[in-house]
Amino acid sequence: MKDKISSLRAQFEEELSIAASLEVLNSLRVGFLGKKGSLTSLLKELGKLSNDERPAMGQELNSLKEFILSSLAEKAKGIEDGLLRRHTAKGAFDFTLPGRTPRAGGKHPITKVMEKIVSIFAGLGFSIAEGPEVETDYYNFEALNIPRNHPSRDMQDTFYVSDEVVLRTHTSPVQIRVMEKQPPPVRIIAPGKVYRCDADVTHSPMFHQIEGLMVDEGINFNHLKAILEIFVHEFFGPKVGIRFRPSYFPFTEPSAEVDIQCVICSGSGCRVCSQTGWLEVLGAGMVDPAVFSFVHYDSEKWTGFAFGIGIERMAMLKYGIDDIRLFYENDLRFLDQFKHEEI
Ligand code: DAH
Repeated sequence: MKDKISSLRAQFEEELSIAASLEVLNSLRVGFLGKKGSLTSLLKELGKLSNDERPAMGQELNSLKEFILSSLAEKAKGIEDGLLRRHTAKGAFDFTLPGRTPRAGGKHPITKVMEKIVSIFAGLGFSIAEGPEVETDYYNFEALNIPRNHPSRDMQDTFYVSDEVVLRTHTSPVQIRVMEKQPPPVRIIAPGKVYRCDADVTHSPMFHQIEGLMVDEGINFNHLKAILEIFVHEFFGPKVGIRFRPSYFPFTEPSAEVDIQCVICSGSGCRVCSQTGWLEVLGAGMVDPAVFSFVHYDSEKWTGFAFGIGIERMAMLKYGIDDIRLFYENDLRFLDQFKHEEI
């Protein structure tokens, strides 16, 4: 038995020394250690040995088995390393090749239009104010001179969170929050999201507005007209005509709606402007003294104007987009068109 073991070891060592592939190593393993392998059959012969001999031979066979296993593993690792080295040396993996460029996103057209409008007003000395999107009835309605049960509440389809809490339907409540905190003069714009229970090609349940408010001594309607004219000309171009139409908002008196000459037909009349040549773009007016009294501003001393601009509407008119839902579907074919657009 002892001779058989040592000749088996010698045979393994010789075969291992010429083995040059992982496949050969595997067949060596099967040949020695497999079910019918030569070492396995020697193990089976142990039973025939006398009680004296068996433990020593058993130990020898086990240590040969371990020797075979570890030698095979070591050689396999050597072969694998060699393969890898040859692979890279042949240039199969070229580290100098440029990687795949990650697809870069761009700003959303609504963000771009918003930033553009903010920058126009920042250039006119307005600073930015913000308020919560979940708003109380008081700020969204009451303090803006829209009492409970007043018919003008029907102008806005409100999402109610509870009796007293709403999703703000406009950015106008920021006017109240700002005036509560600071004495006049005030010159702010408030960009942000607003919510209304309304959905079709020109209305979305969530959309964006920019509110403007300027309060000082001696502010009158001329200032409002001048500021909005500058804004429209900067945004739509210097040749676009602009007009003010009398209108009604509970928080301004007098109130106006501002139209621009149709950007599609330049005023001659088309489907977009319903053949009128004009497009309504924003609401504005002189702050109603009732609003001032809610924030304890002396309306004998201070006057002011306010305006509210719908961002989506601005973007749609500027780019001839006829369905507001395109802004929220995240279709890259739509969004990519604005990626490099200088607004
Ligand atoms: N809050 C009005 C709306 O969402 C827009 C508006 C009109 C805002 C006139 C104003 C304003 O500040 O003076 O319909």
